[in-house]
Amino acid sequence: MTLFPEIIEAYCSQSITKRGIENGIITVNTYNPRDFSKDKHKKVDDTPYGGGEGMVLACQPIFDCYNSIEKIDKKEDFEFIMLSPQGEKYNQEIACKLAQKKQIVFLCGHYEGFDERIRIGLKPREISIGDYVLTGGELACLVLIDSISRNIKNYLGHDESAHNDSFSEGLKGLLEYPHYTKPREYMNMLVPEVLLSGNHKEIEEFRKQESLKRTKARRPDLLN
Ligand code: ADE
Repeated sequence: MTLFPEIIEAYCSQSITKRGIENGIITVNTYNPRDFSKDKHKKVDDTPYGGGEGMVLACQPIFDCYNSIEKIDKKEDFEFIMLSPQGEKYNQEIACKLAQKKQIVFLCGHYEGFDERIRIGLKPREISIGDYVLTGGELACLVLIDSISRNIKNYLGHDESAHNDSFSEGLKGLLEYPHYTKPREYMNMLVPEVLLSGNHKEIEEFRKQESLKRTKARRPDLLN
């Protein structure tokens, strides 16, 4: 649900997301609350009661838009997410869990915020992608669409598996090890010898150690 569906459509019509949609692994539909506004000028926002700056997204277009979406009844298969800087902080674990859902409705805000009765009445799960404020929820929504989809079976090709992504279970929540490709030497910088050895056990051990070393140096908080 977004006032700027073109932002979502532009991203989803490129690269791996495009392929995921074409292959029928995911479906992305956009719904514009403006289309549901009962105001004669299709207004979706208004000034805040009590005064103050900015505009607040009004209840009516959001409630009617939400209710127009055909949703799966079974609660465990469905999630309704509001993108908001006040939500729970997003991470890979949440992405993996959301990848199990059959259907997710995302609500993107814009302007100063939502009329609080949208939260009270529709009870969304609020998610934030970090401690900073975006102009709208669309970028955050795309972050979720992308990171959730990667964890859906058959979305990525075999060679692109998300199993060994940073933070993933395959790496036990650590940062990913460094990668190298051809040539073996570039501007006097060499590819570590072990990666050329063909010894899979040693390569695996090397990568595990590099993963650990990198996590210790950059994100010691993850080791706890
Ligand atoms: N909307 C505005 N800022 C946001 C954030 N940090 N995360 C999610 N949605 C947002």
